[in-house]
Amino acid sequence: KNIVILISGGGSNMAAMVKTSERERWQSRFGARIAAVVSNKADAKGLVFAKERGIATHVLDHKAFPTREAFDDALAALIDPYNTPSHPVLVVLAGFMRILTPGFVERYAGRLTNIHPSLLPAFTGLHTHQRAIDAGCKYAGCTVHLVTGELDHGPILEQAVVPVLPNDTADTLAARVLTQEHVIYPRAIASLLSK
Ligand code: GRF
Repeated sequence: KNIVILISGGGSNMAAMVKTSERERWQSRFGARIAAVVSNKADAKGLVFAKERGIATHVLDHKAFPTREAFDDALAALIDPYNTPSHPVLVVLAGFMRILTPGFVERYAGRLTNIHPSLLPAFTGLHTHQRAIDAGCKYAGCTVHLVTGELDHGPILEQAVVPVLPNDTADTLAARVLTQEHVIYPRAIASLLSK
């Protein structure tokens, strides 16, 4: 498999995936490598880490495209060279802050994953941590799922739970959840690769 990771910012989930793939020797165990990192933002911090690791990086600025469809077509054109008969592509969304078109989702159906910082199906969309605090949740967490046409839906692959503590702010809760994202996303991908 060729893994292509899509990011928009910090890329800490991408970095965790790269580190785990090296530590767990995904190349020899699964014939899988992280082939490229794609960002829709040129200044995404994660690009620096990927370059340092010798991973191919691409920037595709969504603002340069007139429509969502045009951007997604260009994104698919960028990804498809990594999709070969011997190495089918696995597209991993990791903090990629763009909604993808049905056509794109369909093209990579079953091999397109996302991580979402809530215990789905609760709190789809944005501001998940503040919403969990406002709702009085005692527990929060994160979810890895296959991407389908409906935003933040699709079969759940992995979840992790963390407590919501009395003095939590959205930021402190987000940090606690993020440490678990870094555990479950690589685990979910390794499990997909092993099938
Ligand atoms: C993560 O919390 C992810 O779940 C959310 O955006 C954040 C991205 O963090 N969708 P990073 O770019 O992986 O550091």
